[in-house]
Amino acid sequence: MFALLKKLLGIFCFNQKAAEGADAQAALAALSAEPQPLDSTATRSWKMPSGPGRITIKRTPAPNASAPAADYWWRIAPRPRPVFPEFEAINNKEEFERLDRKIDSGDFAMMEVPDNIMGLLKVLKQPDIPFDNIAAVVQKSPVMAGEFLKIANSSLYSRGNKIRSLSQALKLLGIEHIRAMFYLYSSSHNISSSPLLNDAANQVVEHSKAVSLIARHLSKKLFPDPDLAFLAGLLHDVGKLAILKQIGEDFNIPQFDFKLTEEAFTEILPPLHAKAGKLVSQSWDIEESVALAIECHHDYPSRNFEEGGEAAILHLCALVDLSDMMAKMLGKGLFITEGNIFDYPAAAYFNFEPDTATLKLLEPIPALVKNC
Ligand SMILES: [Fe+2]
Ligand SMILES: [Fe+2]
Repeated sequence: MFALLKKLLGIFCFNQKAAEGADAQAALAALSAEPQPLDSTATRSWKMPSGPGRITIKRTPAPNASAPAADYWWRIAPRPRPVFPEFEAINNKEEFERLDRKIDSGDFAMMEVPDNIMGLLKVLKQPDIPFDNIAAVVQKSPVMAGEFLKIANSSLYSRGNKIRSLSQALKLLGIEHIRAMFYLYSSSHNISSSPLLNDAANQVVEHSKAVSLIARHLSKKLFPDPDLAFLAGLLHDVGKLAILKQIGEDFNIPQFDFKLTEEAFTEILPPLHAKAGKLVSQSWDIEESVALAIECHHDYPSRNFEEGGEAAILHLCALVDLSDMMAKMLGKGLFITEGNIFDYPAAAYFNFEPDTATLKLLEPIPALVKNC
């Protein structure tokens, strides 16, 4: 119970004002001392003694253990939404409008790519660069090297032969894939000095990896270019990282002993991330079709894509959208309270029906994203 209560606490301060950590701790201690029964929507707020910040604590019961379990991962029976820490001073209309104006004016914290990564990205643009040379640079980061080997050994790429050599793995994945991974990782690391914001950024990265793997897998049936599907999936939510970076520059968020998820910013991240992502794509010089998928992966049905070449973009956006929802249903991303993938508009776009062939296509997806 104590751990749950701790998770329910959000704290922030604005414009470099120091947090009143002691007050927050006191509120937490008071809450955790003796849990009282609460109704499912109980919400209490405390005004911080100094600064505009408030601690908000919401408590609702954990998801009902007796609720009927879904029989398939892609069909989620109605379930209560758990409680997530909420940042009231950030997650609101005023902050939304402020960030919106910043994005429109271009006065936005673009995610800088560290010099060493930028150097490597330039090298990757050279024609016929030997993969051994790339591997020599990549292996300076054991985390990145491990990531490349893991993906190369996944069922998406591996033909059953274990790949142990990094250069072999990189060759299998290809230059564009390597570039995208470097962009994503370099922009998600150290988003801010706040571990809380970095937690949220890591969640976005985990979601993005799951979407990229699903998109590549689904492209066997739904899209002709699996590499493009993978890249669009990997970078589709990069705008969320840019927004978190900006929040990290505008707010001084103190350290706390709970993990933050992107649910803390649901008023901001969903409506703004596509627009922010477009800015990032321009700044990084991302390939046009991937840039369009970043910009349009949610509102593609209302976009005027022409028939012909642009129809492929529409397809790509729908594929990313479908993969995005599947990742969420599998617990990689924002919490889903209920749904059936076959009722999802992107599934209808592909005439996705629960027939034998489609169910067979869906079968390996949970294992694919389990440890990504
Ligand atoms: Fe998105
Ligand atoms: Fe997403």
